[in-house]
Amino acid sequence: MFVLGIESSCDETGVALVEAGASGLPRLAAHALHSQIAMHQAYGGVVPELASRDHIRRVLPLAESVFAQAGQQLSDVDVVAYTRGPGLAGALLVGAGVACALGAALGKPVLGVHHLEGHLLSPFLSADPPEFPFVALLVSGGHTQLMRVDGVGKYELLGETIDDAAGEAFDKSAKLLGLPYPGGPWLAKLAETGDAAAFKLPRPLLHSGDLDFSFAGLKTAVLTQAKKLGDALDSRKSDLAASTQAAIVEVLLKKSIAAIEQTGLNRLVVAGGVGANRSLRDQLDAACARRGVRVHYPELHLCTDNGAMIAMAAAMRLQAGIQQPTERYAFDVKPRWPLASLSAEPEPA
Ligand code: KG4
Ligand code: ZN
Repeated sequence: MFVLGIESSCDETGVALVEAGASGLPRLAAHALHSQIAMHQAYGGVVPELASRDHIRRVLPLAESVFAQAGQQLSDVDVVAYTRGPGLAGALLVGAGVACALGAALGKPVLGVHHLEGHLLSPFLSADPPEFPFVALLVSGGHTQLMRVDGVGKYELLGETIDDAAGEAFDKSAKLLGLPYPGGPWLAKLAETGDAAAFKLPRPLLHSGDLDFSFAGLKTAVLTQAKKLGDALDSRKSDLAASTQAAIVEVLLKKSIAAIEQTGLNRLVVAGGVGANRSLRDQLDAACARRGVRVHYPELHLCTDNGAMIAMAAAMRLQAGIQQPTERYAFDVKPRWPLASLSAEPEPA
């Protein structure tokens, strides 16, 4: 069975083809991606209307490239999957519209996928896939959550951010340092040459005793520090970047370890764009190794948004028999959609 996946929730257009048997892990046949980062950079962030229009331009050429790479054709597709939410409404509508149009034209069913479930299951595309159950640290641009994952569709929320996401903390702090959008990777690069102990920045909720996060105060602290430095900021930017990254990473690390201890599980899966952060990976690897806990990541190029994770999540849901694809091509999207709601009541596509 071939599942075509289309991702268009934010600023990357992703298309992928995954092949799934009755059992065993689905296999990625091909994927193609177009990032809109260069287009949005001039505005310092994502412009939703431009994002939607660019998805329209890119999605079909990307699909053609996927079929060419895989040596397959449109008629080989058995199910068309798309990101149904959460994300930007207009951007989501492009992927949903194209998926449903393709499905209707081919006479094949469609399936709407939760974007975060895509991230969560993306490590199953790696050479070292995890096994259930595990604790998942989901760190994307818009979400920061710790989940207990017992199987496909079995997600229990353990804790989440009460304000900004970790990715937002990276991006907003980077902006204050004059770095381009999206700031996470730029701030991480700058931090490599800085002193992480140079500035004392807050670690919000570090000792709250629960698994929730709060990052909104951090950008204020970075702003205060930048103002205090004034003209000296230019020569201290890498120190401030390193101190900011250290604050974010320490909170993510300590809360992830607390989640491991609380659940008694011995596997951690890290997913979402911030999961590409080298310092986070190094520190999680070291802390987990000391505790005999295995850590799994998606391949680096599949940490940020892509179509492969959407096709994979759809294929795994189909294999697990928890969702049937539909030939009802009237689609909707869910710009806001809590991941844990998938466990409560599996939704029809
Ligand atoms: O998962 P993702 O691609 O998009 C969402 O679903 O939100 O995550 C994007 C986020 C952005 O905030 C970006 O700055 C951050 O991931 N990011 C990083 C790194 N690479 C991407 N943050 C820190 N270090 C990185 N190396
Ligand atoms: Zn994402």
